[in-house]
Amino acid sequence: MGTGEVEAAKQSAGIAACDFVHDGMDLGLGTGSTVRYTVIELGRRISEEGLNIRGVPTSIETEILANEHNIPLIPWNQVEKLDLTIDGADEFDPEFHLIKGGGGALTREKIVAKISHSMVVVTDPRKDVEILGNFPLPVEVIQFGWEVTSRHLQKLCPGDVKRRGGDNPFITDNGNYILDCNFGPTISNPVELENKIQGISGVLEVGLFTHIADAVVIGSTHGIEVRIKPSGRLS
Ligand code: A5P
Repeated sequence: MGTGEVEAAKQSAGIAACDFVHDGMDLGLGTGSTVRYTVIELGRRISEEGLNIRGVPTSIETEILANEHNIPLIPWNQVEKLDLTIDGADEFDPEFHLIKGGGGALTREKIVAKISHSMVVVTDPRKDVEILGNFPLPVEVIQFGWEVTSRHLQKLCPGDVKRRGGDNPFITDNGNYILDCNFGPTISNPVELENKIQGISGVLEVGLFTHIADAVVIGSTHGIEVRIKPSGRLS
């Protein structure tokens, strides 16, 4: 896909996902270049159609965007349950398991997704894979002792484990590092791997989202494909 086609695919997916949004909903607002189009469309529907929704942003970036588009936000300390989260993904497999965190917002994204009744993923066709792992798996780790944490991760990961940003490290909204783990397309049991990585001291969160997504909206220049998980909460 060319750059223009990818952008058009992201835009069509981001807008189409708004079909899952209904008046009165409280929404988790994901992070990234695809869900950006969802946030913009929600802002349009609020101002032009009187849509009544509230959002919880998963990053400072999304909070700024939502404010620019006049989406009412729920303060974090008042958030209990959400109706729906819409978010992007870096990869999704046939079981609707995801790799997320390419933008570094995985921890807030997972917190928000897990308190949502359902989750819709907005993507383009490049992210559709049989087995997860070609996209380096992001893991958010605390800065203290990150080299030790990295060595623990390295024992699980067949490829290299790199701190994002190298000597000029990327810092998450939570003040932590991201370690990108090059598993290659080997993650055939993402549930087991998620549990193992979460068991490592120093790890805050891992970008494997298992048993969370209920639908994937895949945009393209020639139409939208919506895949609903058969046993999911939207089926
Ligand atoms: C942010 O941390 C990520 O989880 C994004 O949702 C993911 O990287 C997809 O982003 P794009 O829509 O920009 O590809």
